[in-house]
Amino acid sequence: MRLVVHPGGALRGEIRVAADKSVSHRAIMLASIAEGASRVRNLLQGEDVRATLAAFRAMGVRIREAGGVVEIDGVGLRGLRRPQAALDLGNSGTALRLLAGLLCGQEWPSELSGDASLRARPMERILEPLARMGARIGARAGKPPLRISPAPLRGIQYEMPIASAQVKSCVLLAGLCADGETAVREPAPTRDHTERMLAAFGCEVRRRDGRITVRGGATLRGCDIEAPADLSSAAFFLVGASVIRGSDVLLRGVGVNPSRAGVLDVLKRMGADLELHDERLLGAEPVADIRVRAAELRGCRIGGRDIALSIDEIPALAVAAACARGATEISDAAELRVKESDRIGGVAAGLAALGAAVEERADGMRIQGGGLRGGRVDSRGDHRIAMAFALAGGAARGAVEIDDCENIATSFPDFCSVARGAGLDVQSAPSA
Ligand code: S3P
Repeated sequence: MRLVVHPGGALRGEIRVAADKSVSHRAIMLASIAEGASRVRNLLQGEDVRATLAAFRAMGVRIREAGGVVEIDGVGLRGLRRPQAALDLGNSGTALRLLAGLLCGQEWPSELSGDASLRARPMERILEPLARMGARIGARAGKPPLRISPAPLRGIQYEMPIASAQVKSCVLLAGLCADGETAVREPAPTRDHTERMLAAFGCEVRRRDGRITVRGGATLRGCDIEAPADLSSAAFFLVGASVIRGSDVLLRGVGVNPSRAGVLDVLKRMGADLELHDERLLGAEPVADIRVRAAELRGCRIGGRDIALSIDEIPALAVAAACARGATEISDAAELRVKESDRIGGVAAGLAALGAAVEERADGMRIQGGGLRGGRVDSRGDHRIAMAFALAGGAARGAVEIDDCENIATSFPDFCSVARGAGLDVQSAPSA
């Protein structure tokens, strides 16, 4: 699928973006291993989350979907059943890494795999701590498929070498099936949805001096969860409304958890006109309505702690930088090279194809602002690159075509209709 975007249309009115992907995965996982029933409202219908739902159904969990509510009959920590076949997690690194943690302490073998992008992503980062816990997981060259054999687990104290919420969550979930306590310390704060949601399910999670501790064998109790709108999906519109002249939008019910809201701080540093209204808690997660009006952006430095706090929003921020005045330097972001695609390479190539002066670096890029002309961009099958450039098309001087956009459905299946509803002139077409 290819997107074609024509410039011009200001973004106006209220926008409801897709539900939070990180929260949705975790809601299915924790509800499945809880005792008793849970109800999840506003679960993301994206392909990544559908893959997680299918995986838990394949492990014997009864999940009913009706009227926008997903009811999950939890089977307890030891109640999952051995799946008949390998679990296919599609494009989802989160699903695969968190499931590896949850399944390596079960009493049966399992296999986790996914699409070509997922099978190329590094898993040593979870294999190493899980092996220290006693897990037996086979992988060729540290990549999926992961072949898990049953093994008793023991708790560890783990100093994480990289800032990754997926690694943190994987180790904590393994810790639930391990003997004794498991503690992780992260080098920089990352999204804390797992910790918040474990606590909502009644599981004791200690957080002190940057160390997060769980106890093996803890019981989770079914509860009700509602997923907020996904800040990572909102980010495309935060940037689009900032850079498309005449825009004024209100994004409703967006998750603004400070452990992943770096995009708001960076955009404010760039001069964006953002207002948070009606800040409130939706269960364990802070949410707000966000009003964004077009503004003159200026370049800035994005690095250090910004990166973990806005890791998925860098493609959108790079588009903002290209439309800003002055230069933007993105550094300390080498992690972007091992996301759904190499996002440094893909974003730099896309911006260059639209006429921006970009210097690609090992851990980031330097982008000279000044606006974009039209052109053709290869999203490389990466949903976030595709959506970031779709909004760039609204602000560019000519039409922007984006190739290989099917994977938008992994995180934001109705992106095109939401964007069109907000005023973006976007059409989808079969690949040329
Ligand atoms: C996620 C964590 C992040 C993020 C991903 C979702 C999560 O990955 O990029 O899209 O739900 O835990 P890392 O924690 O590996 O950086």
